[in-house]
Amino acid sequence: MQLLQWNKELEIGLGNVDTQHKQLIGIINELTIAVEYSQPNSDLLPLVDRLNEYAHIHFKVESDIFAQYEYPDRVDHEAEHDTFIEKVQYIRRQCELLDTPMSSKIKDFLLHWFISHIRTKDMEYKRFIDKLTHR
Ligand SMILES: [Fe+2]
Ligand SMILES: [Fe+2]
Repeated sequence: MQLLQWNKELEIGLGNVDTQHKQLIGIINELTIAVEYSQPNSDLLPLVDRLNEYAHIHFKVESDIFAQYEYPDRVDHEAEHDTFIEKVQYIRRQCELLDTPMSSKIKDFLLHWFISHIRTKDMEYKRFIDKLTHR
């Protein structure tokens, strides 16, 4: 089973961003395990809700950072966050509607989206702020 693991290469080093990334990775891993073991959708729902809630908190923190540093790519970055939230809400609706166990497509989406978002979009703002503040 493929699980996510935080490592130094994903380090942003700003405020509590890394702690939040680790927490989100933890929730995604819990969901992955639940899907792999074909847990009923009623068991997945609380995990999806936690992911949704925590993603909102994290994205707000990043938006505040963008505002603070007048980050030029802000709109684009936030659009990616919005797409993620929409997808999580879609997953939630599927969980409610379907009696059949969730497909592994869900976990594949979460696994890939999250790490690739940190590696690309989050790293872009890290580099911008590092340069700006001579960190
Ligand atoms: Fe992030
Ligand atoms: Fe982000």
